[in-house]
Amino acid sequence: MTTELETRVTGDPPVGISDLLAAGRIYYEDAFATIYHGDCLEIMRGMANSFDAIITDPPYCSGGYLEAQKTGAKAQGLRGATVAADDFTWFVNDNMSTQGLMWLLRNLVGECRRVLKPNRSMFIFTDWRMMAALTPAMESAGVRYRNTLIWDKGNAGLGVGFKPAYEVILEFSKGQTEYYRKDGQNLLRVPRVHASEKEHGAQKPVKLLQQIMQQVMPPNGCVLDPFSGSGSTPLAAKELGFRAVGIECEESHCETIARRLAQGVLWRQNDQLTRDDGQKPHAATKGATK
Ligand SMILES: C[S@@+](CC[C@H](N)C(=O)[O-])C[C@H]1O[C@@H](n2cnc3c(N)ncnc32)[C@H](O)[C@@H]1O
Repeated sequence: MTTELETRVTGDPPVGISDLLAAGRIYYEDAFATIYHGDCLEIMRGMANSFDAIITDPPYCSGGYLEAQKTGAKAQGLRGATVAADDFTWFVNDNMSTQGLMWLLRNLVGECRRVLKPNRSMFIFTDWRMMAALTPAMESAGVRYRNTLIWDKGNAGLGVGFKPAYEVILEFSKGQTEYYRKDGQNLLRVPRVHASEKEHGAQKPVKLLQQIMQQVMPPNGCVLDPFSGSGSTPLAAKELGFRAVGIECEESHCETIARRLAQGVLWRQNDQLTRDDGQKPHAATKGATK
């Protein structure tokens, strides 16, 4: 990887990628992708300002109708439960409280803002229930709320009444984002990953992530995904010839990411991005949609 991603671990002298690899924090690396195993906030704090886009899909924590149903909240000291010094885990994945998730995502967006190059966008997945609370919390980290993309999943999920057939992707920018296509719209129609093909419960379609990348990534650009899951974002980037950095806290998911990334790349990168059949994977014409 490039020296742009040189990393400083808090309190220690600056260290490079090879030091982190030796320390076991880099789980996987190839010419296109670097995957870190660990907590995203901790790892991002050591990163330099080097990303052309951030696309990420944090846990939605949307399951319970009532805060009291989000059992993870009890372990976060938000409900009067004591926080034992040794075994306290502030992040209890998909069932933390709304306040806990707001805290996490505001901090995350602050770090994203720092590591994003100027005039670039970050895209954060959420759902209809959580977006009302999360959007202002994230915007208060100093970014501009630019758009709400709707991901139309094609068919409705489980439930009754108006069954959920879409998810939302919030776009925040650092300055004025540069767009590379003129045919973009904020409704993205991509079928969900079929259950039989899923390697992660919340796996997002590679094609969906690629539609976003084709709009905002410059040639040879580098994208960050701090909540990588099964690695759909780094895989999507690699297939288009972009570089990617992913972070994932669960080792079993890091294994999945490494396997998916090692399975090959459809696009090859020469001086110009070209596909094996000779077509360019994305048009690098700047749109006038600022
Ligand atoms: C919604 S999933 C992402 C799924 C991914 N988009 C995919 O297509 O597979 C969120 C992921 O974030 C990871 N995660 C949760 N908290 C984290 C943290 N603090 N640092 C890094 N990863 C975290 C979870 O383990 C989970 O795999």
